[in-house]
Amino acid sequence: MSENKNILQDLHGRNHAYLRISLIERCNLRCSYCMPEEGVPLAPKSHLMTYEEIYEIAKTFVKHGVTKIRLTGGEPLVRKDIPVILEKLATLPVELSITSNAVIIDKFIDVLKEHGVNKINLSLDSLDREKFKYITRRDQFDIVYKNMLLLIEEGFNVKVNVVLIKDFNENEIIDFINLTKDLPIVVRFIEFMPFDGNKWDMGKMVSYAEVMTYVNASFSKENIQRLQDAPNDTSKNYKISGYKGSFAVISSVTNPFCDSCNRLRLTANGQLKNCLFSSTESDLLTTLRSGNSIEPVIRKAVQAKLKVRGGMDTLEKLQEPKLHNNNRSMITIGG
Ligand code: 5AD
Ligand code: SF4
Repeated sequence: MSENKNILQDLHGRNHAYLRISLIERCNLRCSYCMPEEGVPLAPKSHLMTYEEIYEIAKTFVKHGVTKIRLTGGEPLVRKDIPVILEKLATLPVELSITSNAVIIDKFIDVLKEHGVNKINLSLDSLDREKFKYITRRDQFDIVYKNMLLLIEEGFNVKVNVVLIKDFNENEIIDFINLTKDLPIVVRFIEFMPFDGNKWDMGKMVSYAEVMTYVNASFSKENIQRLQDAPNDTSKNYKISGYKGSFAVISSVTNPFCDSCNRLRLTANGQLKNCLFSSTESDLLTTLRSGNSIEPVIRKAVQAKLKVRGGMDTLEKLQEPKLHNNNRSMITIGG
């Protein structure tokens, strides 16, 4: 084992200051790009981290340099003890944020504010009610849209995730950008990525280049501003001159951003994933429950992190079902 003192630095010089914690594998939607229609086998409750365990594990990461924690799911707000989890994590010196499908987020406005959660990423893949119902397999468009407006009104910093799928919502790219005219949101178009059971194929993906072709056809060159991306940003950011909001493209498939990756992921059952695409996991929860230090396990997991997309460094490898199906479904990773 290396003598590297910083257990969150990998062999490619990347420091991991950002931890994404999935709180639950369940969700109140059924997005087809995220989970198979028949659902996924759920871990028994006793295998999920309790709020105390989440706090203990998070504390260790913070001790070693994590400054950002994002809570994900499934749908993190479905977890009953979410207020306690927020309360505990808010005591740590981190920026705390959440990714939600926004179906029930109106019930949590106060608790989110109380614990300093200001950044909210929500999923909204279509502005058409029927299409929303088709992709999420639930008829919740109206409430999600209303809740997005509520979050903006309440002063949250809102990003809207749109997973683009060929011949499905590709024709809504400009409608989404037009939303940013009056709403101070960031719309983020995400290239459809392969995970276990999501029936991915390359042909269903809309690429970064294709998004920009639509944009260039609809807006004049001088009105399309390329914004400076934040360090470790996964997205290429743009703005239409004079619009209140902005838009971005997350191009994990055609343009991976692994060089600047600073993320680690903890699944709801306490497994550390060193990459969204990695097929291996490290069991922090069992280690913690057996009374041992999780630090050596974290170090080993970080050191095993591969340079690009869990080893799928080319598009050819990403397209191999054998390789990408070794991973979990997105619903149990948390995005
Ligand atoms: N490809 C791209 N993005 C995905 N998400 C979920 N599954 C996929 C996929 N297959 C994104 C959704 C959600 C976030 C948690 O992950 O946009 O907002
Ligand atoms: Fe639920 Fe999000 Fe997955 Fe949709 S993408 S099923 S909202 S976890």
